[in-house]
Amino acid sequence: MRIATRRAAGLDARGWTGQLRTEVTDFFDNLAHEWHTRATPQRFAVVTDALTRGLDPLPVSRAVAVEVGSGIGTYSALIAQRFQTALAVDLSMPMLVRAPAAPAHRLRADGARLPLRDASASAVVLINAFMFPAEVDRVLSRGGALVWVNISGECTPIYLRPDDLLARLPGTWKGVASGAGVGTWCVLRKV
Ligand SMILES: C[S@@+](CC[C@H](N)C(=O)[O-])C[C@H]1O[C@@H](n2cnc3c(N)ncnc32)[C@H](O)[C@@H]1O
Repeated sequence: MRIATRRAAGLDARGWTGQLRTEVTDFFDNLAHEWHTRATPQRFAVVTDALTRGLDPLPVSRAVAVEVGSGIGTYSALIAQRFQTALAVDLSMPMLVRAPAAPAHRLRADGARLPLRDASASAVVLINAFMFPAEVDRVLSRGGALVWVNISGECTPIYLRPDDLLARLPGTWKGVASGAGVGTWCVLRKV
């Protein structure tokens, strides 16, 4: 997962290929039936902290949030309650069919090629999910926010340090990195 994370982010020259997408999809398809066992109050607390301390104080439009790699939608309601429209995007159909149909709209898509217009999102939320820097930059409106959460901090399989995140994102970003329990998070605004 660490290598795939770095390939998705462009930190490994092999990049995100069709073969890797297939391998990743198969991997998560096979975990979908037991993904609900990973939801704990401690993990909710990490995401809640990122949203309440990191995102809520920011003057970010509350129009559209895109949660990429939403899994079974464990955290989608926390996002949806903050935005007029929330999209829960995942590559894995077995994950998506286990996610609630509301309040977030489920969408099967690859985070590397989102079916969204340029600058159409107020926020992109990645919770233990791959970051595709060019796509995050393309869909996010100016002033929009990227919310990045690693629920188990450095021990999260899909993990990037904040400086690696910043190094890969095109343009100028400003924000804050913090932690809650063993979790870490980072909220960056596109300047
Ligand atoms: C580690 S799980 C995290 C799920 C959820 N965010 C959570 O924390 O419970 C990563 C999720 O990202 C999805 N995923 C992997 N690659 C993706 C891609 N390229 N585009 C969209 N979703 C992807 C997987 O199917 C999986 O549901």
